[in-house]
Amino acid sequence: MYGHCIDNLIDAGARILGRTLVECCSDAEASAAARAAMSAWGSMDMGSAPVIVDLFAGSANLLHHVSHHAGVRGLGFETTREVYDATARNLRVLGLDVELLPRSFDVSGPINAGVYLLDPPWGSAFDGVDLDVSNTIPPIPRLLRSLGSAQRGDSHSIVVVKMPSVVSGAAMSAVARVASIVDLVYSGVDGSRESAFLIVKVSAEQAKASPL
Ligand SMILES: C[S@@+](CC[C@H](N)C(=O)[O-])C[C@H]1O[C@@H](n2cnc3c(N)ncnc32)[C@H](O)[C@@H]1O
Repeated sequence: MYGHCIDNLIDAGARILGRTLVECCSDAEASAAARAAMSAWGSMDMGSAPVIVDLFAGSANLLHHVSHHAGVRGLGFETTREVYDATARNLRVLGLDVELLPRSFDVSGPINAGVYLLDPPWGSAFDGVDLDVSNTIPPIPRLLRSLGSAQRGDSHSIVVVKMPSVVSGAAMSAVARVASIVDLVYSGVDGSRESAFLIVKVSAEQAKASPL
């Protein structure tokens, strides 16, 4: 994680909680997502590099890779106190330029990012194979609609949605009702399919037109 082998992490004093290790994106996954997200951002011809906001930061490994790849500030939100404490400490001892806040992201607040990262807890929405995107905590379509509604004028943002390695037609349809799908990238170690990332574009126009 964080681009380091395990020995380096231990020597630096980094510690990863068991639950965070289960939930986190590996370096291979996070790098694939970073490349796809910034390629999508570049294709929109939106000018200078955006702020990257991770609504569910966890280890902040996904956020670290995407913001590092983009060469811009990364801002993460994490509400579980022990996860926040461990991640904040790891970012500090590893000297990573990511800001982490111990609260939820306020969609109607002043921060308007170019790229958002969405990896909410799956809970019972994941049956071991497929993810029911409408039952994550909170539901992914609802988050995408909120991010779209928060866009000013005809601006838009790229959102990276973490998915399991099986992405069903039902999941794609639920996302496509509230956002434009730009890309679907699979990732894993040595070319294996361990997970996927949906890269989507949100806009106020599409959020307004989508069903509640
Ligand atoms: C699946 S993990 C994210 C993993 C992350 N992508 C990584 O690379 O480590 C989801 C995280 O979101 C946190 N979380 C849950 N609800 C939240 C909320 N409303 N705001 C911020 N963080 C939240 C959980 O504590 C958990 O650490």
